[in-house]
Amino acid sequence: MRGFRITLRTTLGISFLVLIWLVVLHVGNFLSRPDRLRRMPHWSNFGRTGERMVVDEPLLNTATEPPLILGRNFHHMQYGLSEEHEKRRNTIERVCDKSTHGYYGRSDGSKLAKKLVIDHRHRIVYCAVQKTGSTFLRSLLGIVKTSEKSDLDSRWIHNKRKNMTDLTNFHYILTKSCKMMFTRDPYQRLFSGYVDKLFTVNTMYWKTTGTYIKNKLLNRDQEPQTHCGHGITFPQFINYIIESEKTGVHTDPHFTPIYEHCRPCQISYDFIGKMETFTNDSLTLLNAWNKLYGINVTYDDFEAETALSRAIGHTGRLYNMRNGLEKCISFYSGMQRIWKDLQIRGILTKRAKLPFTESEANNVNRTQLVDILTKAIQKSSMDRTALRQQQTEAMIQAYRQVPVKDLLRLREVVRPDCELFGYEVAPNYIFNRRDSSHKLSSFKYFKIDE
Ligand SMILES: *[C@@H]1O[C@H](CO)[C@@H](O)[C@H](O)[C@H]1NC(C)=O
Ligand SMILES: *[C@@H]1O[C@H](CO)[C@@H](O)[C@H](O)[C@H]1NC(C)=O
Ligand SMILES: *[C@@H]1O[C@H](CO)[C@@H](O)[C@H](O)[C@H]1NC(C)=O
Ligand SMILES: *[C@@H]1O[C@H](CO)[C@@H](O)[C@H](O)[C@H]1NC(C)=O
Repeated sequence: MRGFRITLRTTLGISFLVLIWLVVLHVGNFLSRPDRLRRMPHWSNFGRTGERMVVDEPLLNTATEPPLILGRNFHHMQYGLSEEHEKRRNTIERVCDKSTHGYYGRSDGSKLAKKLVIDHRHRIVYCAVQKTGSTFLRSLLGIVKTSEKSDLDSRWIHNKRKNMTDLTNFHYILTKSCKMMFTRDPYQRLFSGYVDKLFTVNTMYWKTTGTYIKNKLLNRDQEPQTHCGHGITFPQFINYIIESEKTGVHTDPHFTPIYEHCRPCQISYDFIGKMETFTNDSLTLLNAWNKLYGINVTYDDFEAETALSRAIGHTGRLYNMRNGLEKCISFYSGMQRIWKDLQIRGILTKRAKLPFTESEANNVNRTQLVDILTKAIQKSSMDRTALRQQQTEAMIQAYRQVPVKDLLRLREVVRPDCELFGYEVAPNYIFNRRDSSHKLSSFKYFKIDE
């Protein structure tokens, strides 16, 4: 990731601090053990649906093994977690405790294992869920992973050479790591997924999911005029989400519920971040890691960086997919889609018009387009409040088109994520169509001139 700066801090003092810290850990861990173990899965049973499973005894003898890094009270102090972070953990715990089914969803153990990004050296386990900032967090973890000077604990390092498919070892790693995940309002996550995979230029998704929706789920008269699977509308997409959740057919990890990815009722996550407070949450983690591991990883303005990398990424897509694209839609139409995508996401002001005619667009090269987008984005970023409003406005516009009966079915699909992660099950701006506090904009976010 561009913009990261790393410098290593090495002092003798740090080794001493680490020593003290390990001692504190031992004590903290001892005190908090019952809580820690309460919701750990028993791996040999993992993947079976039914009651939540409880392990009474740790698999390890803490007197001879390295200290756990997971005690709750310890984390509260070391990571400088705010009350809000504690509240998120408590909400999950409360909802899980009330449940009789344990929120397994359709996930199984092997899928979960693939989701987990593990930094053995720092004992960080990250459950990476698509559409919740996972690309950024993976890069961040990658940098942290390689920017450490001294090994904290050689026994741990040694352990990673063990066979990772051995679930006992996996359990070992989970019990001894700081486990983190990030969540996002499910209505926003689905909307973002739609824009990214079906609305904007994405010939791969058009070919697979787009074509699937068109062939399997649409009536003849609803069919978009296409042989490519592009042009799927948001209401059609929502219908697909409802059907695929019901039947389990053609599900997609970008759209399936977050709890299915991470199993928060079986794995007791130490840190729950949210997309809605992403900068604060990722900085909280980074500050803690910098302090704990004696490193100095920083990043510049997160919002600005993601905006630009998105524009560059989309331009790349447009040009890399050009051949496939032009079998479906005009290049100009593709360019409009990435322009609108940036407006929908509140990266580019809706006042900015694509500065080309169709015939001009055909001769614009990649460098020129990136240049133009960069300038337009920089100019737009003067008013971040307006951009945020724009984002909400586009989302309301999309959800207003969904029939009420589908909205009600969708509510049941997203309910577990809402309850577990503290989002409104039926937010006003989507469910109350008479709500006059959100005026409908006359700007047509989803209209493309073909
Ligand atoms: C790892 O463990 C699995 C199951 O226990 C076994 O099938 C596999 O051969 C092992 N791989 C290695 C490299 O030891
Ligand atoms: C995150 O927000 C909390 C509560 O507003 C604040 O106390 C904390 O300092 C913030 N952390 C960072 C790293 O900005
Ligand atoms: C971390 O790096 C930044 C920029 O490279 C520098 O300004 C700062 O002094 C460094 N902090 C420490 C504690 O080394
Ligand atoms: C893109 O077009 C501009 C202006 O026509 C030209 O100066 C530049 O060399 C072109 N870049 C590439 C990579 O073709």
